[in-house]
Amino acid sequence: MTFVSHSPDDTIAFAEKVGSLLKGGDIIAYKGGMGAGKTTFTRGLCKGLGLPDEVTSPTFALVNEYRGEEITLYHFDMYRISGEGDLETTGFYDYISPESVIAVEWSENIEDCLPKDIITIEIETTDENERKITVFGDERFEDTGD
Ligand SMILES: Nc1ncnc2c1ncn2[C@@H]1O[C@H](COP(=O)(O)OP(=O)(O)O)[C@@H](O)[C@H]1O
Ligand SMILES: [Mg+2]
Repeated sequence: MTFVSHSPDDTIAFAEKVGSLLKGGDIIAYKGGMGAGKTTFTRGLCKGLGLPDEVTSPTFALVNEYRGEEITLYHFDMYRISGEGDLETTGFYDYISPESVIAVEWSENIEDCLPKDIITIEIETTDENERKITVFGDERFEDTGD
């Protein structure tokens, strides 16, 4: 399904709906370049999951954790990662659990190494403040779009 966002707040509100439908074990792979809105979207995911939404880019930390009572969101940035060996050293696979949701920026870099059953969120910049956001891979989100 697709959603057209006209502002960062729009993106956060849509992501909040998506976030409220997430469950432990979910893995989100973002596609979309620099400034597309991946980190902004993650802010909404946190809101929807009832987690603190002090979200920042994990570019330097590689992974940020947003801890909740039942679910923890692990927010990765794979900008500097490529391939299976590299990914192993981040401990990525150890973060996958029924109590965690994982959101991955720059998933393009590790596309072939991700599990099959994931949710892909593609964000296309169509204008300065407009983003076309498409959610692939799960029917759960069908009613959240335009
Ligand atoms: N509709 C929109 N949705 C999300 N971000 C937007 C939108 N319009 C403009 N922006 C701007 O685009 C930038 C997105 O930044 P960020 O979320 O850090 O992107 P990324 O993590 O993909 O690099 C922010 O400066 C934000 O204000
Ligand atoms: Mg980012």
